Amino acid sequence: MHVVTIGTGYVGINTAAALAYIGHSVWGVDVDAGKIERLKAHKAPISEAGLDALLALPLDLKFTTDLSECVQTADVVFIAVGTPSLPNGEANLAYVMSAAEDIGKTLVPDHDVTIVVKSTVPVGVNEMLERRIRERVASNGGDGKYLHFASNPEFLREGTALLDTFYPDRFVIGTRDDLAYQMLYALFEPIIRQTFEMPAFIEAPAMRPDTQCLRTDQISAEMIKYASNVFLALKISYANEIAGLVEKLGGNMADISRGMGMDRRIAPYFLQSGLGWGGSCFPKDSLALLSMARDYGYEMPIVQAAVDVNARQKTNLVLKILYKLHTLAGKRIALLGLTFKPRTDDVRNSPAVDIARDLMSRGALVAAHDPEGLEQARIIYKDDGFVFCNSPEDAANGADALVIATEWEVYRTIDWAKICRLMRKPILFDARNLMRDHRDLVSGFDYTGL
Ligand code: UDX
Ligand code: UDX
Repeated sequence: MHVVTIGTGYVGINTAAALAYIGHSVWGVDVDAGKIERLKAHKAPISEAGLDALLALPLDLKFTTDLSECVQTADVVFIAVGTPSLPNGEANLAYVMSAAEDIGKTLVPDHDVTIVVKSTVPVGVNEMLERRIRERVASNGGDGKYLHFASNPEFLREGTALLDTFYPDRFVIGTRDDLAYQMLYALFEPIIRQTFEMPAFIEAPAMRPDTQCLRTDQISAEMIKYASNVFLALKISYANEIAGLVEKLGGNMADISRGMGMDRRIAPYFLQSGLGWGGSCFPKDSLALLSMARDYGYEMPIVQAAVDVNARQKTNLVLKILYKLHTLAGKRIALLGLTFKPRTDDVRNSPAVDIARDLMSRGALVAAHDPEGLEQARIIYKDDGFVFCNSPEDAANGADALVIATEWEVYRTIDWAKICRLMRKPILFDARNLMRDHRDLVSGFDYTGL
């Protein structure tokens, strides 16, 4: 089939490349000309396991900044642009609206085409986008009978985006339109039925998943995405809340998470306590859900509590550092990790950055290192006052305390004895509990976990 994805961010590029791999003819469209140039040179715009190798294959995958170059022949058009938070927590719909405008003004359909919203959008937005595109197409003299619409939320995680795309637990299609459903099912059938040849560029799972396909209406599909993401976020906040109590009562939070996870109804995932959740989904989706509820005068105390506990986790860490050092003014804090989680170079909405800012606002100097995120951080946070360091040793040199803010595996095996010698005071705050089970390696430190 002929496919167009509008947006070549995490969702767009992984979807586009995976669909090309299973045999479709795909165009990736983006307003960012730099991104498109990189993609034309087979370079991934993001650091994602296997993506460079996938883009190097001889696929039918092309890129452009000009939607009109490809939309006319498309059978399926994905909207996969971002929906970041506005200051009041509402989702910013400017980009999805602009994508809808672009489709509406360039497409004059002469065959069936299904327009699919993959971006996470508040409940009701699929319907609004459909209306807008239908109006625009009609005003251009286009025939609306060829237009079909569906919501197809994306559940991929950064860092394992291709793994999640090729081996999903579930596939949700939200539409009342039979043809839209059939087209989308046919497009993804090799993935839904797991019949494609397993690619060598990503580690294969031990077993192919028994992917569940759920057909529902658009509103329910939109809500499945929010309800899932926010459930995972509150699972983490719950683990963090328990960890805070365990710190007072005594006990081993690692064992407690393990013990809870042994119950199949609870499952072992997303129970790791630490600095809390960040990234481009959990924070914005929890705020957007609260904002949707507020519009209807409906309170969501559980979701609000998850957000509050997440914020408290970061404040608690900064206060622990303050209590230990007595004053932060003029102190040098080494920060290991800037990305919002390991195995990504994404430093946006990162808890590590939040605590660094808090420390700096209290007068500390933050010397930060990250194995993958430095390049992005140097661009995005160039005016924030960080001292960016090329090695953990540089960051630790002369530091009054060190914080592990992202649980990168490489940090476990750095020369901790050397780090200890380099610091002014060997005080370690392990905000991701990376060394919790390896305390012998950091025996020279005054150690605090989270
Ligand atoms: C996606 C979803 O779209 C978002 O709703 C979901 O919650 C998280 O995943 P993501 O792919 O991570 O977002 O966004 P991002 O990496 O910011 O990429 C969006 C891309 O769309 C960018 O490359 C941007 O240049 C492009 N874009 C944006 C357009 O092509 N057109 C626009 O009008 C706006
Ligand atoms: C998430 C969802 O998992 C994915 O399904 C959705 O489509 C997009 O949002 P992502 O943001 O890439 O994916 O990261 P994820 O691996 O879910 O982690 C989110 C945050 O939670 C990170 O900051 C991570 O450090 C934190 N986390 C995760 C914990 O603090 N504890 C855990 O046990 C798991």
